[in-house]
Amino acid sequence: MKTSSVLAIAMLIWGTIAGFHDIEADSILVFARQATSLPPCRLNYTTDVWTGCADVIAQFEITLEEFLYANPQLGEGCDGFKPGETYCVFRDSNTRPTSLDGNCGIQANYSASCVGSTFGDCCNPSGKCGKGEDFCGKGNCQEGSCEGGRYSTDGKCGREHDYLPCPPKFGLCCGGNGQCGNATAFCATGCQSGPCLEASTTSASQSPTPTPTTSPGGVSPDGTCGYNDAFVCKGSKFGSCCSAAGYCGDTEYECSQYLGW
Ligand SMILES: *[C@@H]1O[C@H](CO)[C@@H](O)[C@H](O)[C@H]1NC(C)=O
Ligand SMILES: *[C@@H]1O[C@H](CO)[C@@H](O)[C@H](O)[C@H]1NC(C)=O
Ligand SMILES: *[C@@H]1O[C@H](CO)[C@@H](O)[C@H](O)[C@H]1NC(C)=O
Repeated sequence: MKTSSVLAIAMLIWGTIAGFHDIEADSILVFARQATSLPPCRLNYTTDVWTGCADVIAQFEITLEEFLYANPQLGEGCDGFKPGETYCVFRDSNTRPTSLDGNCGIQANYSASCVGSTFGDCCNPSGKCGKGEDFCGKGNCQEGSCEGGRYSTDGKCGREHDYLPCPPKFGLCCGGNGQCGNATAFCATGCQSGPCLEASTTSASQSPTPTPTTSPGGVSPDGTCGYNDAFVCKGSKFGSCCSAAGYCGDTEYECSQYLGW
């Protein structure tokens, strides 16, 4: 008796669910997708300590919205971004078309991505997809899966050039003139990033080797901020705001809420 009425109720419920199958199943599916499963990630990217949320967005030519969609854990405004962590930069539904002809970058009007292409995941300064050092190495990669993130590909750097840091091939210091170089002229006064020499040192040293002189968490000695050394910009001569790229400044770029902190 008992068993059969349970069975009857069960069948009744089943009938109800089955009757509404289309609506119920679809909304459950949609809900499950939103709640748990995202399309697969096509490229994970490990940021370096210089990389900010804005850098990743710029490098991979995606929108903030797309980046947050691919990494829901980051929260609104990319607040949860931690330099050095690995993030998904391309999920299936937010990719640009993969380059079919091997052309990429600014030369192709950023209309296609090398990532996932048969040529390789990196776009060289001439706008060709490929792999290996010549395409992915620091200073050789304009977009895509570039080694170590974004670096200058033409020797121009700093504020006037999208805050690009300098790769070894052009010299590691970004001079006050927005050009990369290893010479004292680039690493001394006005130096924007890289192993800048202490501003007060009057070229006693010939070698621009990194010489951290301030303890972590102190006022930025070189215009860099956040990340490993946790230098703060307030009180530095470079500006009071720390950009997501890790440089001090006073412009809207460094001070806007979403980019800086
Ligand atoms: C990216 O990382 C996620 C999580 O670790 C993993 O599930 C996914 O397969 C990775 N995708 C690629 C293309 O490596
Ligand atoms: C890129 O855009 C410019 C201006 O709209 C156009 O003249 C050029 O042909 C485009 N190049 C490619 C490769 O699509
Ligand atoms: C600059 O110095 C670095 C580190 O010593 C070196 O690897 C690089 O080749 C140099 N670059 C130039 C352009 O001299």
